[in-house]
Parts: sequence; C-alpha cells; structure tokens
Amino acid sequence: MFEVKDIPVSDSKREFYASLAQQLSGLLEGEPDAIANAANMSALIYQFLPDLNWAGFYFMRGSELVLGPFQGKTACVRIAVGRGVCGAAAERREPIVVPDVHAFPGHIACDSASRSELVVPLIKDGKVLGVLDLDSPSPNRFDEEDRQGCEALVGIYLKASDITL
Ligand code: SME
Repeated sequence: MFEVKDIPVSDSKREFYASLAQQLSGLLEGEPDAIANAANMSALIYQFLPDLNWAGFYFMRGSELVLGPFQGKTACVRIAVGRGVCGAAAERREPIVVPDVHAFPGHIACDSASRSELVVPLIKDGKVLGVLDLDSPSPNRFDEEDRQGCEALVGIYLKASDITL
C-alpha cells in the first residue's frame, strides 16, 4: 500500500499542487476502481488542502449528479444538471470558481459554513462523468492556481480509474 507522506510547506501554490499530484499518482497507481480512487482522493485533498469544509465527488447518473465519496458534513444526494455550482459546471463542461457562494444564483447550501467553492467537471472521451467539488468556509478561497492544480488532480484520477458510468 502506498504511504502518503507529508507535503512540504511551500511558498508556491504551484509547487504544492505538484507535490499533491505526485502523492495522488502514487496513491492511485495500479488501482482502477473509480469509487475507491474517489474515496482516497477526497481524503488526500481534505487532509492537505488548507481551509476546506467539504471535498468530494458527484457522479453522473442519467440527467442527475449523484453524491459519491467525500469528506465533510453530510450533503445533498441528487443535483440536476444546471442546478447549483456543481450542476452548472457539469452543464458548461468547465471548471467554476465561485468567490462568494451567496452571490451565485441557485447555489445549493449543503453546509451553511460554505462561503466559496471550486467545481471541476470529470470529462473523459468528451463525456461528463461527474464533478469534483471543493468548498471552503472562507470567501474567495480559490484562485486560478487552485483551478489549474485541481484540474491536474482530476486528470490523474481519470487516467487511473476505470470510470464508465
Ligand atoms: N455547493 C454545491 C452543492 C453540493 S455541496 O456543497 C456538497 C452546489 O451548489 O452545487
């Protein structure tokens, strides 16, 4: 079993995400199970990314996103495509950074502590298979570097996992 090491504190977010990506690759190596990998990836992100109150997955089931593995408080199970930040990211097929969730029309407040959010869609062979959702209790928690870093993590997840929903 791959042992996750501490990630060195770095001044640069880019270096931080590079270390996290390396750890994730090791963690998922040789394991194709999409649910197991999503569970470990949520745990890794929640452990190392500072200032989060929720990190996890929703998977596409028909025209809805359905809750997958996550870390944080209990969450709403079904989100229609187009609804909330997760549904919007799935519909637009692109990552969404929301600096202030209170200003996002239709935001779904699973945990009232959430103030900002980053959602990255899982897209394989042109198909939206789900989303990775990160929530923070701090406004304006996520920037472009977080978006790029998390897109890279999602790429590692999609490459490792046999995800045919
Ligand atoms: N905030 C999300 C709903 C999911 S929970 O935050 C876990 C949204 O508006 O899409």
